[in-house]
Amino acid sequence: RIAALRGRRVWDSRGRPTVEVDVRLEGGAFGRAIAPAGASTGAGEALDLRDGGAAFGGLDVRRALAHIEAEIAPALLGRDAGAQGAIDAALIALDGTPGKTRLGGNALIATSMAVLHAAAAAAGVPLWRHLAGDGPVRLPLPEIQIFGGGAHAARRVDVQDFMVVCPSAASFAQALDRTAEVYRAAGALLSARGLLQGVADEGGYWPAFASNEEALDMLLRAIEAAGFVPGDEVAISLDIAASQFGRAGRYRLARDGRSLDADGLIALLGAWIARYPIVSVEDPLAEDDADGFRRFTAAYGDRVQVIGDDFLVTEARRVEEAAAAGACTAVLIKPNQAGTVTETRAALEAGRRAGFGTIVSARSGETEDVTIAHLAVGWDAGQFKVGSFTRSERMAKWNEMLRIEEASGAGFAGGAALRRRRP
Ligand code: PGA
Ligand code: ZN
Repeated sequence: RIAALRGRRVWDSRGRPTVEVDVRLEGGAFGRAIAPAGASTGAGEALDLRDGGAAFGGLDVRRALAHIEAEIAPALLGRDAGAQGAIDAALIALDGTPGKTRLGGNALIATSMAVLHAAAAAAGVPLWRHLAGDGPVRLPLPEIQIFGGGAHAARRVDVQDFMVVCPSAASFAQALDRTAEVYRAAGALLSARGLLQGVADEGGYWPAFASNEEALDMLLRAIEAAGFVPGDEVAISLDIAASQFGRAGRYRLARDGRSLDADGLIALLGAWIARYPIVSVEDPLAEDDADGFRRFTAAYGDRVQVIGDDFLVTEARRVEEAAAAGACTAVLIKPNQAGTVTETRAALEAGRRAGFGTIVSARSGETEDVTIAHLAVGWDAGQFKVGSFTRSERMAKWNEMLRIEEASGAGFAGGAALRRRRP
């Protein structure tokens, strides 16, 4: 039973305030979690409640913390931490709004995950094992950023994430080994061309490129320079994050100096898919264009995994609708988009039932919190997206996964976790 629950303000990887929650149970078991924050957020996400005003660019979280102290803690004291569903139902009812706009999705997700950690601690097992029970687990296929872009790099290029995946890797550790070599090779290439200008929000190199295609060319060359055969050994995965540069069927590619309608964007992405070893594409169209998603998936979904992020915002109902419409083939799972652990899991299970790929994901604003590594394994998500291969808020997750790999002795999901449409 929950004996104490308190929030505090801590700082995230962008130097912005965020919410941390500590939970202590009557037997002494302890849990802690920190809310992450997005920059390219979907319109349907749980609200990241910020104070506004002058301090910290309006991003302070005093109101969310006040809600934890005044309402959330009193409501949860004495409750069974092992009953996550009941805890989360209480949080949802207490907030009382569809978008978690009253208490704040940041207050709720930090609380929900802290309670989950406390329950695992009380059970005396690692969180991933607590979630998996006696069931088998697999290490997820990692998707790792090499170049940042979009909202994470002042829109230097339009595409948000240029990432690599290693479908033929034999283990999670080997996938990281290959990625580390590609990351180094990319850095050397950029340096030789005078294009090395630091890193973007998630630790990928700052994209000092003249076009989206130049970034793709450079990534392909980095894969080859690292000594890998592009494709099964190391392939490319993109997060277009198209909601950031288009809506209502109009897309402005600022870097490429082009304006496209939805079918023009679909054709452009199709040309990239034909030219580069791309195996996965996230948010190829804006979140308001379900039919564009459907047309993209119909055209290319047998060749690439099509992931809905801003489009599905970790919501089971939207996942079911997308599956029924054939709008995508995979769902990104971000706990703070949903606002509670239970709703996050429901979205993942809806994806699994639909035959979707499921990718547990970090946000662009992160911390040392490694909860998502445990969720990815404990829920057997199959895929895991954290950002790049630098910056300790990213490396903390990759390193935690290496520890889980060692402790569990579990196998690796590998390239089979990528979900394409059956031709
Ligand atoms: P965000 O970006 O955390 O800024 O939303 C991550 C993503 O789009 O996948
Ligand atoms: Zn995304």
